[in-house]
Amino acid sequence: MRRKLVAGNWKMNGSLAANASLLAGLKAGLQEGSCDVAVCAPAPYLAQCQAELKGSSIAWGAQDVSVHESGAYTGEVAASMLLDFGCTYVIVGHSERRAYHGESNELVAQKTVRALAAGVTPIVCVGETLQEREAGQTDLVVGGQVDAVLEALDAAQLGRIVLAYEPVWAIGTGKTATPGMAQEVHAMLRARLSAKDAGVAQKVQILYGGSMKPDNARELLAMPDIDGGLVGGAALKAADFLAIIGAA
Ligand code: 13P
Repeated sequence: MRRKLVAGNWKMNGSLAANASLLAGLKAGLQEGSCDVAVCAPAPYLAQCQAELKGSSIAWGAQDVSVHESGAYTGEVAASMLLDFGCTYVIVGHSERRAYHGESNELVAQKTVRALAAGVTPIVCVGETLQEREAGQTDLVVGGQVDAVLEALDAAQLGRIVLAYEPVWAIGTGKTATPGMAQEVHAMLRARLSAKDAGVAQKVQILYGGSMKPDNARELLAMPDIDGGLVGGAALKAADFLAIIGAA
């Protein structure tokens, strides 16, 4: 059976003071259990996460990584730097990066490879817009996003990624995919992974993200192919994030 992972994506939120209180709340309230927990912080706060979370059961990660190894790439953060600060995870291909920074499927695939090469687990995000869903293109779009990543990986690498299905229309909108809708896409994604390696596909955690809250987490997480959550807004409140972890 796959372990569940609940990962918070803080996006561009927080401050030293706010993070300290959030992390203290999480550490105090977390019941040691059989679920993986992580927070993905803005890069300047990774050192703070490392200092506050080292020795706890909460892992930390970043929200993006450079496709380049090192060198003259002003403003970018290398995978090796994330490792230096103890990151277990890095989000790649979030829809906000795809939409606002023009990240292509191919770039996301290359970033995935770069993270793996450095020993950081990529949380690879895929998801369709409302327009694409309404046009009946969900499988085409989401399948294409995942296939680009699959093309770049061998089976051993595939076994070291986390996938996240985040319908764009559900992100920050309060509209959640129904458990049935999400399960349908998760099953399609696992079938794509199976075409590469059926055994490995059974082990890959596939998270759901998009307005996951304490009151809808339980139903979503009960679906057979939903292995956790990638949580935005609700991850900024210790009580809400802990409630989602409790549901998992
Ligand atoms: P919300 O939970 O705020 O909808 O954000 C989801 C998300 O984008 C996580 O990466």
